[in-house]
Amino acid sequence: MTVLMVHPVAGLRGQARVPGDKSISHRALLLGALASGGTHVEDFLPCNDCLATLECLRTLGVGIDVLGETKVAIHGRGLHGLTPPAGVLDCRRSATAMRLLAGVLAGQPFECTLSGDEQLLSRPMSRISEPLRQMGVSISDNNGCAPLTIRGGELYDCVHQLDVASAQVKSALLLAGLYADGPTTVEQVGPARDHTERMLRAMGANVESNDLTVTVSPAKSLAPLSMVVPGGISSAAFPIVAATIVPDSEITVSEVGINPTRTGLLDILRLMGADIAVYNKRTWVEEPVAGITARTSSLHGAEVSGDTVVRMIDEFSILAVAATQASGVTTVRDAGELRMKETDRVATLVEELGKVGADIEACEDGFVVRGPTQLHGGVVDSHSDHRLAMALAVAGMVADSAVTIGNIDCTADSFPGFTDFMRGIGGEYD
Ligand code: S3P
Repeated sequence: MTVLMVHPVAGLRGQARVPGDKSISHRALLLGALASGGTHVEDFLPCNDCLATLECLRTLGVGIDVLGETKVAIHGRGLHGLTPPAGVLDCRRSATAMRLLAGVLAGQPFECTLSGDEQLLSRPMSRISEPLRQMGVSISDNNGCAPLTIRGGELYDCVHQLDVASAQVKSALLLAGLYADGPTTVEQVGPARDHTERMLRAMGANVESNDLTVTVSPAKSLAPLSMVVPGGISSAAFPIVAATIVPDSEITVSEVGINPTRTGLLDILRLMGADIAVYNKRTWVEEPVAGITARTSSLHGAEVSGDTVVRMIDEFSILAVAATQASGVTTVRDAGELRMKETDRVATLVEELGKVGADIEACEDGFVVRGPTQLHGGVVDSHSDHRLAMALAVAGMVADSAVTIGNIDCTADSFPGFTDFMRGIGGEYD
C-alpha cells in the first residue's frame, strides 16, 4: 500500500497532454485484434485496465508488440481468428475489459472463462450475460457476477432494450452483433459513450445510429485502422478542476478527446461559472479532439441529472471536490449507477470527503454538496478506486494542511504517472 501526502498549493500553471483515453485504448486493442491486418496505435494508454485487455488478447492468440511505452502494433487475426486460451482470462479490476471481451467471445466457437480480482468479481455482470444469452450464447456466472464461462458460436439477431445507460453493455452487444445472423439493435436509455460505434464505422462495419438506437449488421471482416488515441477527458478532468479551484491558476491540457458523449463535466463546470476555453478543435479517426484551458474561477452550485449524468459518469468524484468550493448547493440525481462502479462511489465519496470537512450527503441516486467549505487536513483512503484517489489528491490542494491518502497505487488503473503530471503543473506531493 502506497501513501501520498498532498500539500496545499498556491497556484497551478502549465501546458501538458494527459495520457490517452482509456475507453478508446481498450477498443483499439479489441477491434485491432479482430481486424484483417495490422493496426498501429499511438498514445495508447498503458494503464492497468488496458494492459488487462492486452494480456487477455495475447492469451487468445493475438500478437501484440509493445513498441515503447505508448505505441502498440496489433497483428489482427480477423473476426474468426482467435484461438482457445490455455487458462482463465484475467481482467484484473477492469469491467470494460470483461464486458467488451464477453461480447467478442460470444462469437467464438470455444469455451473460456473471464475472471478478475475481488473488486471486479463483485460487480454486476447479468447486465451482459442475460442479453447475450438471448442471442444464443451459453454463459454461466456466479449469482450474476464473474467468473463468467462463455461458449459462443452462431448468434441470433436481436433487439435489446437496455435498462441501464451503459457503454460497456451496448458495446458488448454490438461486438456480439458482428457475429449474428441478422442485424442487432440496441435501444439505450441514455447517450452512453459511442467510441465503439465510431471505431467500427471507421473499420467499414455497417453501424446505424438514430437518437438512442444503434443497429449493427453482421460483418465478414473489419478493415485495420491506424490511430492516435486522444488524451483522456476523464484524466484531464483532474487538472481542469484543480485549476478552477486553486487560486491563481491557469493550465492547458492539449489534444483531449471531446466526444460529446463524454463532455458532461465541462458543461456542468461552465454552468457553475468555471472559466474554461476549448480551442483548436479537429477530428482524429472519427473522434473530436481539442485543447482545454481552465483558470481559477468563482464557482456556484448546480443541479446535475438526466442525460448529463451519462455524459460524465466517471467524473462525479472530481465534481464533488469542485462542489465543495462552490457557493450554494450542488445536487446530483439520476446517478444510481455510481453505486455500481469500482466502489459504491456515492458511499465512498461521502465517507472520504467528509473526513476532510466537506458538507456532503448521500441520497439514493446521487448526492448533495453544500459549499463553499474550507477543507482541512487529515487521513483518507482511496478504497482502491482510482477516480476517488485522484479526486482526493485534488481536494488536498485546497485544504488548510496536508491530506494523506492511503492506497494511492490504484491511480495507475487509469492514469499512470498521475502524481508526476500534477507535480508538473505545481502540485506538491510526498
Ligand atoms: C466505459 C463505460 C462506462 C465507464 C467506464 C468505461 C467504457 O461504464 O464508467 O469507466 O469504456 O465503455 P458503464 O458502461 O458501466 O457505464
